Amino acid sequence: MKICICGKGGSGKSTVVALLAAELQRRGKRVLVVDSDESNAGLYWMLGLDEPPNPLMELAGGKKSIQRVLRTGFTEDADDREKSVLARDEFRTDELPDAYVQWADGVGLVCIGKIHQALEGCACPMGVLSREFLKKVRTDDDEVVVVDMEAGVEHFGRGVETSVDAVMVVAEPSLESVTLAERIKALASQAGARFAGAVLNKVSSEKIGAQLRGALERRGVQALSAIPFRQEFLLGGLEGKALNVEPVADEVRSFVDSILAVAEAPKGN
Ligand SMILES: Nc1ncnc2c1ncn2[C@@H]1O[C@H](COP(=O)(O)OP(=O)(O)OP(=O)(O)O)[C@@H](O)[C@H]1O
Ligand SMILES: [Mg+2]
Repeated sequence: MKICICGKGGSGKSTVVALLAAELQRRGKRVLVVDSDESNAGLYWMLGLDEPPNPLMELAGGKKSIQRVLRTGFTEDADDREKSVLARDEFRTDELPDAYVQWADGVGLVCIGKIHQALEGCACPMGVLSREFLKKVRTDDDEVVVVDMEAGVEHFGRGVETSVDAVMVVAEPSLESVTLAERIKALASQAGARFAGAVLNKVSSEKIGAQLRGALERRGVQALSAIPFRQEFLLGGLEGKALNVEPVADEVRSFVDSILAVAEAPKGN
């Protein structure tokens, strides 16, 4: 199963991805998190990893060769079995070379790529690699791929969602976030992915939660559970600490039930 987490910049996508991964792991799933956001550096510590994996963009030979490599395969490196993983029609998560995936307690992390230098060029090759990776990676019944998507909606234009089972949005209490959730719902259905609704995040009072829920539902976006604003999440992010699910365990279980129900529903529903 493949699940994408989308939303506005800073709304809490990476936080929700880490909470989702922890809950899926608790339910006995093997989870592979894909950091598809080249400007997002903190996911590895949120997941409790000591360091990030090498970016897949390096495995693919860098931005310039990515289009050619994905089209023709690694013909020049045919004897290099590690590199040839990405050129296959499909691969399993445990076939990824060790340096490109970090595992801790049944949760793994893969990073598509990062911007390292000024004027390096646009993010399109990363979108291509994200899309191809998601298309080719095979998941068994007990396995879930969770994508921490870049902010906004450009990735829909690059077709990143075409092979995912469900898209979920993170919505914080702002009109920008709510209108973006509405757009993402429409774009997900155009991409052929099922839309699981919006998790509310950074909800600092019941009143704010009710208003955010109402604003989403008036736009036809199903509101899932609400993650409260937690000071320790903010402090943990400042200190680079792993995320602790315990204080929000009930809210996380609730949205995970919802997203699994949507992602596991028979195709055509
Ligand atoms: N429920 C919450 N309570 C308090 N702080 C939160 C909560 N959720 C997220 N944050 C904080 O908000 C900031 C942004 O969160 P996060 O990095 O998860 O967002 P994002 O959508 O992934 O951002 P980006 O678009 O930059 O990737 C972080 O400092 C994080 O610690
Ligand atoms: Mg992020």
